[in-house]
Amino acid sequence: PPKSINYIKEIKKLRKKKNAVILAHYYQEDAIQDIADFVGDSLALAQQAAKTDADIIVFAGVHFMAETAKILNPSKKVLLPDLKAGCSLADSCPPNEFAAFKKKHPNHIVVSYVNTSAEIKALTDIVCTSSNAEKIINSIPKDQSIIFAPDRNLGSWLIKKTGRDMLLWDGACMVHEAFSIEKILDLYAKNPDAEIIAHPESQAHLLKVAKYVGSTSGLLSYVQKSKAKTFIVATEVGILHKMRQLVPNKILIPAPVDDDNCNCSECFYMKMNTMKKLYLCLKYELPSVEVNATLSKKALVSIERMLELSK
Ligand code: 13P
Ligand code: SF4
Repeated sequence: PPKSINYIKEIKKLRKKKNAVILAHYYQEDAIQDIADFVGDSLALAQQAAKTDADIIVFAGVHFMAETAKILNPSKKVLLPDLKAGCSLADSCPPNEFAAFKKKHPNHIVVSYVNTSAEIKALTDIVCTSSNAEKIINSIPKDQSIIFAPDRNLGSWLIKKTGRDMLLWDGACMVHEAFSIEKILDLYAKNPDAEIIAHPESQAHLLKVAKYVGSTSGLLSYVQKSKAKTFIVATEVGILHKMRQLVPNKILIPAPVDDDNCNCSECFYMKMNTMKKLYLCLKYELPSVEVNATLSKKALVSIERMLELSK
């Protein structure tokens, strides 16, 4: 039989030899988070990508994240362990349709969530993530009309938070729309001391009953600050790995989903990356994420505005 490979050992060796940095999102499988040089939310990962001096960036996340890293580092090699690791939210905003929508609403500033393709970022004035969206919207003069894309749930939540009447694109994340409000409320009735906490990509009926709403890093800070002992966590279940490390004595319950065949919400795209694929991509330096130079330059403007406003 072929000799089994010690992925942890080999990945560490290759990373050192090639001066590569491994950036991982909180939704990645536990072993990938453990071996990464940096684990973070979408904003922190973009900030790391902007300042790294590594020769190779291995992005253990989804395509739009690696693409953003490539736009920030056109001369570096940016690898994604599985090129098919996409995003349902990014897919819910096709560039041609969005360009037509934008044309119908001139005089609007376009704020787009980072979960978009480079084509959408090129049509965007300012990119945002769930960590900085409120700050970015508040930085726009009150009399300026705004288009917010592509997440209608995050958009509606931001309208409530900022009081701004934004025009929303009708997109959503399939992972955050899978939660069952009935099952969550049932669980809450059985655990009345628990706090429901949710990512803003979740639907309004869930955000309404949540004690705290925030990005993945926001949720991680909240469980450390809160006096509660039990949390019902409504975001992709991969976050529980870091949460358990940060609050080992608290009880963390993943929010249940509508589908009776699974008991928590997993992002199928995020989970496409595995330790084996991470090892192979470091070894062969493939697959790499490429972005057309003209498109990249256009998309860079809206990403840089976000980074500037997030300092
Ligand atoms: P954040 O990590 O920025 O909260 O984003 C969550 C997400 O859905 C990434 O795909
Ligand atoms: Fe996209 Fe949703 Fe997966 Fe995040 S969790 S990568 S928004 S599909």
